Amino acid sequence: MAPGLVETAIEVTQVATKDLKATVKPTGNIHNYVPGRTTVKKHDETYKYEDLRPRFPDITWPALTPVEYNDKGLLGDANFKNLISAATDVFDYNPKVGTEIHGVDLANLTDLQKNDLARLIATRGVVFFRDQKNFGVDEQRALGKYFGELHSHATTAMPRREGLEDVHVVYTGEDSPDLRALFTPTFLWHSDVTYEEQPPSYTSLKVLSGPPRGGGGDTLWSSQYAAYDMLSPYMQKYLESLTAIHSADLQAQGTRELGRTVRREPVTTAHPLVRTHPVTGWKSLFFNPGFVTKIVGVPKTESDAIIALLNEIVATSPEVQVRFQWNEGDVAFWDNRVCNHSASYGFAPHRRHAVRVCCRAERPYLDPESKSQEDDLSARYGIPKANKDGSGIVNYND
Ligand code: SIN
Repeated sequence: MAPGLVETAIEVTQVATKDLKATVKPTGNIHNYVPGRTTVKKHDETYKYEDLRPRFPDITWPALTPVEYNDKGLLGDANFKNLISAATDVFDYNPKVGTEIHGVDLANLTDLQKNDLARLIATRGVVFFRDQKNFGVDEQRALGKYFGELHSHATTAMPRREGLEDVHVVYTGEDSPDLRALFTPTFLWHSDVTYEEQPPSYTSLKVLSGPPRGGGGDTLWSSQYAAYDMLSPYMQKYLESLTAIHSADLQAQGTRELGRTVRREPVTTAHPLVRTHPVTGWKSLFFNPGFVTKIVGVPKTESDAIIALLNEIVATSPEVQVRFQWNEGDVAFWDNRVCNHSASYGFAPHRRHAVRVCCRAERPYLDPESKSQEDDLSARYGIPKANKDGSGIVNYND
């Protein structure tokens, strides 16, 4: 038996009576539950998403040029009424980040609903939709294009089908090696392509094929609004004065070492370490454990210390994070400006196949007059703010 493969057999006991239904009584483990083991789906040449499997073509593209970006979230209703009125259920995962909506078909939204969706993603960081049967890759691209010009990745896989060069393919096959030990867990946290001058905003990821429930492969998001709010007012002010270097060099180098083509020359860009979101008006950290190599204008020891502090906040603070367990057909839609994310390993030997579409957004900027999420929610709803002055009696761990 292949590792992880579970034979499905229900034990039955025969009892001699006339009624057959009453005679067959399940005994023992009727749920076929085996701790740490899930049934592995066999995929053959009739795989439904063969055209969306990965390829790495030997092609090159010119450097990106500036693009106008008008955030559709600015047109959204303040209470998201067009979107929420169509939903059968909506709930937050926690007060800071993550919302799940049921009963909404992403393939059939009106423009008013799309604007509300953008505004909701900007507000909540990431929004989840279950079982989006109608939302194929063409619909996914069409919705992405409504939000802005689609970004084409310079190194990662694109689908086999021609004409989908702006779709990023996530693919782990049944025989793929588990590479997690090559990276620190903090490094695996990232936001996408922040080395670009206009890094993406609204980003959708649809899982086409993945481990069954309990098989692993969850994705986690970490809010940069909430990360900013974890800092003292002194540190917030200090970081607001700094810029960070985001570099594509390592990604390009890894691609070349694998013998693949880097389709666009890698770029290195300085961005503010704290930015303002044009829709919510909230400040957020703009830090990326995966691509930030240096804080500008400070000694290396200090730069390393800031990077280590921010890595820790992003990667290890449960209350700024949300974790999503996927089913096939589910879609996560996040705002890449204000969230880092990390996939999780440990789901072998299941196939995990997903497609991602994102659009290029504004060049990051900081409006010093903008406020934080926590300040805004506290003023609006009287939510108590964290005590950050270090006072208080510590008696936590049990
Ligand atoms: C990504 O890093 O964009 C994909 C995340 C995932 O595979 O869950």
